[in-house]
Amino acid sequence: PDAPRINPSILSADFANMQSELARIAGADFAHVDVMDNHFVPNLTFGPQMVERIQATSPIPLDVHLMIDDPDRWAPGYAELGAASVTFHLEAAADPLALAARLRSIGSRAGVAVKPATGVEQLFDHLDAFDQILVMTVEPGFGGQSFLADQMPKLRRLAGEARRRGSDVWLQVDGGISADTIAQAAEAGADTFVAGSAVYGADDIDAAIARLRSEAAA
Ligand code: DX5
Ligand code: ZN
Repeated sequence: PDAPRINPSILSADFANMQSELARIAGADFAHVDVMDNHFVPNLTFGPQMVERIQATSPIPLDVHLMIDDPDRWAPGYAELGAASVTFHLEAAADPLALAARLRSIGSRAGVAVKPATGVEQLFDHLDAFDQILVMTVEPGFGGQSFLADQMPKLRRLAGEARRRGSDVWLQVDGGISADTIAQAAEAGADTFVAGSAVYGADDIDAAIARLRSEAAA
């Protein structure tokens, strides 16, 4: 799908009704699936068995965001179950370039994520190794937090570098994205937007997605 891409995070969905919650976001681009292990972040969600059922049930492709230790070991399994993209954290990976290559060889898009305190300069020489780069705009772990506008200079530098090098890597933001904040992230260079509470907290989900899309394109 073309930018701007809107990826609702099912972290804000009703976990007991996942099938219908997935059906509600059929008009979005990717279902964003937050895997947390209670080690890399202080929260716990679900693992491969649940994600396999989500993959079988979702009307749209999965964008898996791994907030886990030792992604070198665990990330390939999510690509193998059919996730369209698998994003691991740069801070957690032992060999990010090898892991990204492995994910691609299995057939998924390879993504790398950075926490707010992590720089992106170390990625500049390796943009071609990744299909998407996720700049976190909250500390990972929980939905419903406030957007960290201080991440915009980092995103802007990354976008400039990608442009300069002719890279077609997708630039994603995740955390605190709403109709009020999405334009700032788009202006700084993001093309792919994760939104949890702003989508699942809305009465009319299709309208919320359409609003995010139009604010991002403005
Ligand atoms: C946070 C997760 C996000 C979360 C975003 O650690 O990675 O994907 O669901 O939720 P909102 O959009 O509510 O900030
Ligand atoms: Zn996420």
